[in-house]
Amino acid sequence: MTDIDATPTSTLDRLREVTGTAARAANAHNTQPWELRYRCDHVEVGWRPEYALGPSDPAHRDLRLSLGTYVETLMICAAGAGIPVDYEPDFDLAAARVGRIVPAARPATDSGRVADVEGRRVWRGPWLPRQVPRYAVELAQRTAAEAGFRLAVVSTEAARPLLVRAYHWFFGEAGIAAELLAWARLTPRHPKYHSDGLNDVMLVLSRAEALAMRMFFAPVVYRALRPLGLVRLLTALSSSATSGDGVVLVVLGKGDDPAREVEAGRLVTRMWLDLFRDGVYVHPQSHVIDCPGTLGDLARLCGAEEGERPLVFFRVGYPAADPAARPRHPRREATEHASV
Ligand SMILES: Cc1cc2nc3c(=O)[nH]c(=O)nc-3n(C[C@H](O)[C@H](O)[C@H](O)COP(=O)(O)O)c2cc1C
Repeated sequence: MTDIDATPTSTLDRLREVTGTAARAANAHNTQPWELRYRCDHVEVGWRPEYALGPSDPAHRDLRLSLGTYVETLMICAAGAGIPVDYEPDFDLAAARVGRIVPAARPATDSGRVADVEGRRVWRGPWLPRQVPRYAVELAQRTAAEAGFRLAVVSTEAARPLLVRAYHWFFGEAGIAAELLAWARLTPRHPKYHSDGLNDVMLVLSRAEALAMRMFFAPVVYRALRPLGLVRLLTALSSSATSGDGVVLVVLGKGDDPAREVEAGRLVTRMWLDLFRDGVYVHPQSHVIDCPGTLGDLARLCGAEEGERPLVFFRVGYPAADPAARPRHPRREATEHASV
């Protein structure tokens, strides 16, 4: 059924039918920063500043990418439900807004991607010794080019030294460690275990590792052990994130327009869902871009031209265990629906 004759309000109200599924959008640290603000003739897509990360996302690039993944996922879900809406970008930092959803004459063509939205999830565990097929990488490159970005392909082998350095930097920054601990949900007894953040299961931590993380990242212990080799130890413990087969995909964009980063987030969703359809999983690793000691080397590895900069770093490949066997990272919205 289409809604062509419906009033703007009833069309926009129908978005509520799909916000639970749209919240499956990938987002940094699973903070779910988005907010829908229902107005009389449009729905503003914005963010809640209290869910913006601090030291782990110093330029708020991941925030804008995450808002882009949300917009794209919401539009996929609206099309799937036959809701006639369009998205109009209108980035405004002061209003904490990226754009608005407006009624359209007819629903966008349902691309049949809602099941992929439900099934997609990040993979942070070990990888199979198997390469991603060329056609999948070429499809991602075409998708990026259509959106006005460039997708560089880097071998995992070439990226590994950068990954190790970036992890070392990441674990060595007290502010980042504190923020990681604040968003980690390391035991089902955590009060927000079922609503947001990074749980022990999707971080692929054993019980002992989860306990160790809770202990090592506690500020007093962290401060005491950091000079004694804690950072090296934590980097070594992240070996599955830095070793194994697969390939690294890096989205490069020109200029520093924050609205383009939201568009890059939309692109990332399309690429991630295409890869997921082919059984390929993704591990984004933002710190390689944020780490001052690896950004320049990454740009060089990608053959970045003048004015071009890396926006997204994706490790992609085939997981050594079935990711679907693990409970997904939760969402606040799903929790709210479940509790009604
Ligand atoms: C812009 C962006 C940056 C991300 N950066 C990282 C990262 O650096 N390391 C990581 O392990 N996961 C990263 N992720 C994955 C998120 O943590 C993941 O999407 C979130 O926890 C929700 O889980 P799900 O994707 O399995 O639903 C990132 C995701 C996005 C969209």
